[in-house]
Amino acid sequence: MIRLNKKNEDEAVNVTVKSIDKGHHNVTYRGVKAIRCPFDYVMYQMIISEVKPDLIIEVGTRKGGGAYYLADLLDSIGNGVIHTIDIVDEVEQEVKEHKRIRFFTDGWANYDINLAKDFNKILIIEDASHMYEDTTGVLNKFHSLVSKDSYLIVEDGIINELGLEKKYNGGPLRAIREFLPKHPEYIVDRRWCDMFGKNATFNVNGYLRKIK
Ligand SMILES: C[S@@+](CC[C@H](N)C(=O)[O-])C[C@H]1O[C@@H](n2cnc3c(N)ncnc32)[C@H](O)[C@@H]1O
Repeated sequence: MIRLNKKNEDEAVNVTVKSIDKGHHNVTYRGVKAIRCPFDYVMYQMIISEVKPDLIIEVGTRKGGGAYYLADLLDSIGNGVIHTIDIVDEVEQEVKEHKRIRFFTDGWANYDINLAKDFNKILIIEDASHMYEDTTGVLNKFHSLVSKDSYLIVEDGIINELGLEKKYNGGPLRAIREFLPKHPEYIVDRRWCDMFGKNATFNVNGYLRKIK
């Protein structure tokens, strides 16, 4: 991603997608594992401050660090809740106790979308298995819930760059590629994808903005 070698080896900067990938597994938020690319934390912070969602649905919770971060951001704007969905319960207690977080353990396919009907500004984050089939399933199930000028964020298209495309049967990028032509109401928001350089994000082409 970034390579800048200086003459003095001690001062060399050598950052790659692989090194960021390795490091991002060590990221915590308030002590809870929060598996996201550091660039994307900045983007999320800016998006939440702009969109001011009253409901975020996060598909894929793991330990809950990502949801914890988002919940505190909602606290900072004084509004909103998170429905975070997984298939296993590995979530830390303090995350479950956050007043803005509701945790579901039945998987995205069993989430009742009627739970979203009383909210006005909805933002969706797809961060589950990253298999093409799962990502497509999530996009198809949740896209209509997203409010105009809000986002459907598809995490981890970076797996292609990491050489893992086959393992995930094309993964999130294949799902996005097929989804967009059928949904002209969405565009890839390059403002976020390219903020630090072309697709300098783990959510490659994954910030989908609903424009109509
Ligand atoms: C990349 S981790 C999520 C990371 C989390 N969003 C964070 O910020 O730390 C992916 C999670 O998706 C979950 N998952 C896999 N299949 C799922 C499904 N069908 N529905 C919901 N979650 C699923 C996995 O159990 C795993 O905990």
